[in-house]
Amino acid sequence: FDKLKFQFDLIQWFLNEQRILPWRQDKDPYKIWVSEIMLQQTRVETVIPYFTNFIEKFPSPESLAKAEEEHVLKAWEGLGYYSRARNLQSAVKEVVAEYGGKVPDNVEELSKLKGVGPYTQGAILSIAYNIPEPAVDGNVMRVLSRILLIKDDIAKVSTRKLFENIVREIISVDQPSEFNQSLMELGALVCTPKSPSCLLCPVQNHCRAFSEGIQHELPYKTTK
Ligand code: ADE
Repeated sequence: FDKLKFQFDLIQWFLNEQRILPWRQDKDPYKIWVSEIMLQQTRVETVIPYFTNFIEKFPSPESLAKAEEEHVLKAWEGLGYYSRARNLQSAVKEVVAEYGGKVPDNVEELSKLKGVGPYTQGAILSIAYNIPEPAVDGNVMRVLSRILLIKDDIAKVSTRKLFENIVREIISVDQPSEFNQSLMELGALVCTPKSPSCLLCPVQNHCRAFSEGIQHELPYKTTK
C-alpha cells in the first residue's frame, strides 16, 4: 500500500471536488465543533440551514454560553437529539469559564467536555488546528474497510480503535485537515453504502475491495 500516493490522490480529488459547505468557510474551532455535533446524527443537507442560523444567533462560545437554554433549544428545533444541544451549551460554558473561550487544542481537555467523544475531538483537532489525529465515524470506517479490506465488525468499539490506529499510520502529517475531510467527503460522494461509484473513485487503484470485486460486502457489521 503506497501511503504517500494514496494521500496525494485522495487530497487532490478533495481539493478539486469538495462541496462548498458553510462550515468549510473558515477554521474557527467553535464553528467546526458546532458543525460536527449537528452532523453526527443528521444529514448534511438538513444541517446546512440549521448551522447557518445557529452561528448567526450564537456566533461565538461567549454568546452561546450566556444564551437562555430555551433559545438554544429553539434554534435546534427539528434537528432532534436535543441532548446534543444541551451538552454543547454546557461544554461551551465550561470552555468560557475554564479556557477563556478558546476551544482546547488537545485531547486531554477536549475529552472532559460533555458530548465531545473521540470522533469530535479528532475532527476539531485535525480540521480546526491541523493536528494529525484520527476522526473516525461510520463513513470513514466504510471507506477504509474497503480500501484496506478490513473485515472486522464495525459495530465493535475495538474495531473503531483499530481504524483510529490505522488512520494514525496513514494520515498526511502535512495536511491532516484535508486528509480527514477527504475521507469523509469520499464516503459521502463516492464510496457510498449502496452502489459505490467505484468507476469514478480517485483512489480506485488503491482499493483492495474493488480489486477483488467485493466492495458491496464491506463494511462488515453484525447489527444494523
Ligand atoms: N460529516 C461529518 N463531518 C463532516 C464534515 N466536516 N463535512 C461533511 N460531512 C461531514
